[in-house]
Amino acid sequence: MSSSFDVKDLIGERVRSLQEYAPEPPEEAALRLGLPVGQLIKLAANENPYGPTKHALAVLNGYSNYHRYPDAVSRRLRQAIGRYVGVDAANILVGNGSDELIDSLLRLFRPGPRGGGIAQVINCPPTFGEYQFYALSNDMEVVDVPRDEGFRVDVAAIGALCRADPRPKVLFLASPNSPDGSLLPDADLMRLLALPLVVVLDEAYIEFSGASSKVGLVKEQGNLIILRTFSKWAGLAGLRVGYGIFPDSLMGALWRLKSPYNVNCAAQVGALATLENLGEAKEMIAKIVAERERLTRKLREIPFLKVYDSQSNFVLCRAQGVSMETIRQAMERRGILLRYFSDPVLQDCVRITVGTPMQDESILIALRGL
Ligand SMILES: Cc1ncc(COP(=O)(O)O)c(C=O)c1O
Repeated sequence: MSSSFDVKDLIGERVRSLQEYAPEPPEEAALRLGLPVGQLIKLAANENPYGPTKHALAVLNGYSNYHRYPDAVSRRLRQAIGRYVGVDAANILVGNGSDELIDSLLRLFRPGPRGGGIAQVINCPPTFGEYQFYALSNDMEVVDVPRDEGFRVDVAAIGALCRADPRPKVLFLASPNSPDGSLLPDADLMRLLALPLVVVLDEAYIEFSGASSKVGLVKEQGNLIILRTFSKWAGLAGLRVGYGIFPDSLMGALWRLKSPYNVNCAAQVGALATLENLGEAKEMIAKIVAERERLTRKLREIPFLKVYDSQSNFVLCRAQGVSMETIRQAMERRGILLRYFSDPVLQDCVRITVGTPMQDESILIALRGL
């Protein structure tokens, strides 16, 4: 007997408003472009073109306990991260990418049926899309405070929002920010921390910047959370391993909320091995930073591009007088995949992940030919 209702009608309102996120995998892109997958140059997702360190690959290869469950609380990895960033392992939670930690911390504050929690999330677009996604999927209201044309955060507008409604809110800020690569000035961070906000500072790209991490502030500021990841500098995006540094007061609740085996064996082993042989990873970072500077200089020689300064492993360019569709076609004919945007503020922009010098040369040749 069929039921008297359609299950589809029971799906919550918030899920209906979400957009599916399904970027095209390289195999699909190769089919679409009629090219062998090995000929693609994928510089669309800020991945590390050099991959994991040799040491991490060797340790992953030699690991013999893939048939066992991983350590549910990532003891060894948290100790090693603690030494790497200079904080107590007791303040570190590891996640299935830092994406998962964005969700975990929002679930921590999600308002319950009898009130409490935090109802609003402040988002400062253009920025990483997952802040908005996870806020909406946790039934939280997203209040946008757009960045200015130089991608600077509007601290005054955030202050005004807090004065108009002093109920605490969660604020997400990436530093360096994606898609432009700019850092949040220290003075802005300090002004924001003085407001009734839980400030989540996402330092996914901090290793590529000249700036030091703000992890040291977490102990003294009860309302600061820092997110970091192994996806970019360590070349482990596919293993999904990120971490957060949280104030003491949140740790107990986070441990209770966390799903047991969220960080798999390969992720823990690969991240730990990367930290054991940091010299190799640091060489890779230095190569990427030097190449970012070279790429930026060369892109600036192309007359129709405005190239933003970046402190990250990508460079954002705005095209003037040449359509993005023309650029995309020229790139894709050569198998080059870059990041384009549907957001009206970024419609004439392309974000180029720093590749190897040879990969970047292909982009420059294609652009010069336009
Ligand atoms: C600002 C920012 N934060 C976090 C992430 C995701 O990191 P993870 O791979 O650790 O989930 C990205 C990935 O592109 C990012 O751009």
